[in-house]
Amino acid sequence: MADEQEADPKLQVETASKAFEQEFERFARFTGESAQPAAHTLSQAEAELRALADLRNRHLGKKSALAASKKMIGRVAPAERAAFGQLVQQTEARLVEAIDQAEQALKRFIDNARIQREILDVTLPGRRPRQGHLHPISLLRERIEDIFVSLGYVIEDGREIETDFYNFDALNIPANHPARASQDTFYTTDGFALRSQTSTVQIHAMQRRGAPVRMIAPGRVFRRDTPDPTHNPMFFQVEGLCVDRGISMAHLKGTVAEFLRRMFGPDTKTRFRPSYFPFTEPSAEFDFSCFKCGGTGCRICKNSGWIELGGSGMVHPNVLRVAGIDPQVYSGFAFGLGIDRMVALMYSLDDIRLLFENDLRFLEQFE
Ligand code: FA5
Repeated sequence: MADEQEADPKLQVETASKAFEQEFERFARFTGESAQPAAHTLSQAEAELRALADLRNRHLGKKSALAASKKMIGRVAPAERAAFGQLVQQTEARLVEAIDQAEQALKRFIDNARIQREILDVTLPGRRPRQGHLHPISLLRERIEDIFVSLGYVIEDGREIETDFYNFDALNIPANHPARASQDTFYTTDGFALRSQTSTVQIHAMQRRGAPVRMIAPGRVFRRDTPDPTHNPMFFQVEGLCVDRGISMAHLKGTVAEFLRRMFGPDTKTRFRPSYFPFTEPSAEFDFSCFKCGGTGCRICKNSGWIELGGSGMVHPNVLRVAGIDPQVYSGFAFGLGIDRMVALMYSLDDIRLLFENDLRFLEQFE
């Protein structure tokens, strides 16, 4: 076959031409009237353009069969030379024309696609970045902070990991007190405790600031409580402390009542019930008249008309002493309340665990 072709230059040109037609078939759709490279992506078109350059090189380059045929023009019989020369030239012209057409169509498509990619339509509506918002606990914490700051209190930032001294001893909690047991408190392997109440900040604040002092300390606390609709092992409290000369229970009641009026409206009533905390003497728990029914009784206050909020009392002399303050000169009150349950009441949540499940469908309602 090869010998035959060697012998017949015309056949050689035809074979080269056929081989080209076959390979060029996939580019044919880019030529002629119905050239449609638009069906391509930009990267596909760029790859096609490279393949086309490769094809041009193979069929028209120096080592192509057509180039070899050209060299043979001088060797064919003089009578056939002109016709053969014409055949070679026509074939070459046809190949060049086909490749050029396809190349132009592809280049046009690529140029357009690149422009499209870079186009910026300034009239399109912008894509607004999603804006986050504060967690309901943070929202309430900020409201509480605002009220106390306006009453002249500073905000203290406490530690979440404490030594036994700050967690218990300094708060006048005796060595055998059940709160110290590992069933109630989380301990680290080094014997530190995760604070179980923000009352620990009372000691730090008095040690650092001395007397007089007026501060609130919002923050996380940890207890080994089994999660249920009203308990979490991690929750938030706000501690309040006021120490000065001549501070009495009346100041405590006045402050808590004013705070709750600003929080829930001017008609809010407050009541104190005797209680016990090792670090206050006397101690009291305080309730406020239900913000929903105003005291007549409803689902939120369980028909009692009152909502329990937290603990309070006059700072125990032992606590003042341990923090370096002379109880003969100064006295003070302290109070503490849980934020999570307050959020639950205000937003009618029947389960405080929702607050930490991080379900966006829940959290987005507080925007
Ligand atoms: C205290 O923690 C005292 N430190 C309060 C105090 C401060 C008294 C200053 C005197 C002077 P108590 O253990 O009652 O008190 O907790 C206070 C509030 O924390 C409760 O009223 C409740 O709202 C909240 N709380 C307690 N345990 C949980 C829990 N597991 N999950 C969510 N909230 C809780």
